Amino acid sequence: MKKDHFTSTWLALREPYDILSRNKNLKKFIRQSDRILDIGAGTGAFSRWCLANNIFFENMMLLDHDQRLLNNTQRITSRFCKNRKLIIKKVSKKEFKVEDPVSNLTFGFKTLNKDLSLSINLINNFDVLSMSALIDLLSFNYLKKLFNKIKCDKVIAMTLCFNGKINWNDKNSYDKYIVNEFNREQQSIKAGDISLGYRSIDKVKQLSKKKKFKITIYDSSWRLLSNTDDNKNFHHKYLETLYKPLKRNKYTDNKILEKWYISKIKLINSGSLETRVGHNDIIIET
Ligand SMILES: C[S@@+](CC[C@H](N)C(=O)[O-])C[C@H]1O[C@@H](n2cnc3c(N)ncnc32)[C@H](O)[C@@H]1O
Repeated sequence: MKKDHFTSTWLALREPYDILSRNKNLKKFIRQSDRILDIGAGTGAFSRWCLANNIFFENMMLLDHDQRLLNNTQRITSRFCKNRKLIIKKVSKKEFKVEDPVSNLTFGFKTLNKDLSLSINLINNFDVLSMSALIDLLSFNYLKKLFNKIKCDKVIAMTLCFNGKINWNDKNSYDKYIVNEFNREQQSIKAGDISLGYRSIDKVKQLSKKKKFKITIYDSSWRLLSNTDDNKNFHHKYLETLYKPLKRNKYTDNKILEKWYISKIKLINSGSLETRVGHNDIIIET
């Protein structure tokens, strides 16, 4: 698949919002001590959500096709551990451990620089698969392979799955047009495969039904505010993730896009804009 580039800066900005948004019920399904493969791991934000929730895995494999993001994992996790009195130990360039001196639990990490298309051959070596903020980038082809290959008694945790719904407290007559354009843009061709965008959720439901896997879906939407400098900054950055791809897209009416964007910027700066970005956490028990 073609590379989708995400910067460490963007992933670091969204991490606090993701930590708050992942549904509390996930803890019932994601058990400690299992072997887990985090597909499209980025800088390992999902593993830090696990640590924040006291969920320790003996072995977590962080798979991503972007080596630069994987290279930042130890440093970012180290900072996270310092604030929580957890001890981090480097094993090698690609491997480290986190220890909790109070509970004596250990969390083991390894990084793997691979395209996710190559993860299919690995999945049955793990008890849990996790994919965070990823499934909208996947193709139906990949999902079919995953569902066909995976064995019984596994848990697949797909968290922060974008569901295509974006709503604002202060409505604009172009909101619907912009959201439709963005959702269309997301379903673009990547190396011959079409990424599914928000439709990935329906495909996952269909495949789970076909395979008779149990599927449970929770809400994990972002609620973005404009009341502090940090919230304003993140809100601006989020708006850019809608604006920039549409600006490049020859189908989107540029005049409408500019008008819409400027009106949202003004509302963020005035401190009044609230945006709800629809996400779901999905648990599949095979
Ligand atoms: C939105 S980011 C989410 C990162 C991380 N899971 C998180 O929650 O912060 C999507 C991640 O998927 C990775 N990715 C996208 N396409 C990929 C592919 N074909 N193979 C492996 N990783 C991929 C990107 O490099 C990026 O790290």
